[in-house]
Amino acid sequence: MHNKNKVLVVDDAQSVLTVIREILEDEYIVKTARSGEEGLAIIPDFKPDMILLDVTMHGIDGYEVCRRVRQDGIFGFIKIIMVSGRTMLEERLKGYEAGADDYIGKPFKPEELLAKVRVFMRLKSVEDQLHDLNKELNDQVRMRTEQLVDAERMAAIGRYAAGIVHNLNNPLQVIMGNAELLAVKHPDNRNIMNLRKAAAQMKKIISTILSTSYRESNTEYVPIDLNELLKDQVELLRSNTFFKHKVKTDLILNPIPGYRGIYHHFSQSLGNLIKNAVDAMYKSPQRILHIETSREKEYIRIEIRDTGHGISDKKMDKIFNPFFTTKPLTAKDERPTGTGLGLASAKEMIESYDGRILVESEEGKGTSFIILLPLP
Ligand SMILES: Nc1ncnc2c1ncn2[C@@H]1O[C@H](COP(=O)(O)OP(=O)(O)OP(=O)(O)O)[C@@H](O)[C@H]1O
Ligand SMILES: [Mg+2]
Repeated sequence: MHNKNKVLVVDDAQSVLTVIREILEDEYIVKTARSGEEGLAIIPDFKPDMILLDVTMHGIDGYEVCRRVRQDGIFGFIKIIMVSGRTMLEERLKGYEAGADDYIGKPFKPEELLAKVRVFMRLKSVEDQLHDLNKELNDQVRMRTEQLVDAERMAAIGRYAAGIVHNLNNPLQVIMGNAELLAVKHPDNRNIMNLRKAAAQMKKIISTILSTSYRESNTEYVPIDLNELLKDQVELLRSNTFFKHKVKTDLILNPIPGYRGIYHHFSQSLGNLIKNAVDAMYKSPQRILHIETSREKEYIRIEIRDTGHGISDKKMDKIFNPFFTTKPLTAKDERPTGTGLGLASAKEMIESYDGRILVESEEGKGTSFIILLPLP
């Protein structure tokens, strides 16, 4: 048995210490002390799971030792069994009051002592487990709370972002206007041409952000062009340098009928699937994001396919569970992070339109998520 539990025996009679040591030694790590003072001095280093404590001793007695151990919060979980020749009810009560867990009378039968110690050790280990579990739960609650606070902060930034981005338009107009004037004066200057190109790109990014944030805030049923939406989601990802420089995108957008729904249901669920696909390719030698839409007989089909690490059969059962993630919560570099809510929420949103999400994956090769939406 590894991880033996530890017992401290305190008694001023050496004969008693010897007997108890013999009874317990096979199953437990035993230390002995000849006085209350000595016992108290041993506790902080030895950290016993249990103390067998003689009541009447020279110097501080068993009750006092018991009281001091209980006072010290850190050692509050130690089991204490009083060992005494005095077993009158009053004596026992005094022991319980001082904080003892149980009492055993002298002389005792070895089997009885061993049985009692075992019972309390079992109790102790259950309590320790509960204590650990509780601590773990507390840590998780703290972590999730921090996440929620972060999410709320991000949402607030999002609410202001539209305003901030909108304000970028004015200085951008000035840049563009002056670039035009310069271009007229120096029609062949490459620097000015680059300036105009960059400014035009910036204008496009600003208008994508603005139109998306406007539609995101809309919670009414509106006509949605899913092809346009997919284009916008990919466009938004371009601010991510990994995506921009390392991922090749194939967009095959076939004609599909218009759809009616709440805009952010689709921007979020499709955005989540695209983000997952990009994340999965972080370490892939070949990175191709393939997005294809088509009209089938009875539904609109949207496929988002990647050449990423794939999903093992074992994980496949869990990926739609809330909080299931294989990504760290935070990372210092551009490594993908996650909370494990993306697929759970995507599934909920798609299913609320009677749609379905199907997954096909091959480990080490890639994954394909297919969304089927019933035709309007
Ligand atoms: N395209 C994919 N390729 C490989 N694994 C995937 C893919 N999409 C999802 N997964 C796996 O499923 C898990 C759950 O995905 P989900 O989108 O729910 O959470 P997440 O991406 O980890 O975090 P979040 O989306 O909340 O930021 C991922 O951590 C990943 O292990
Ligand atoms: Mg995700």
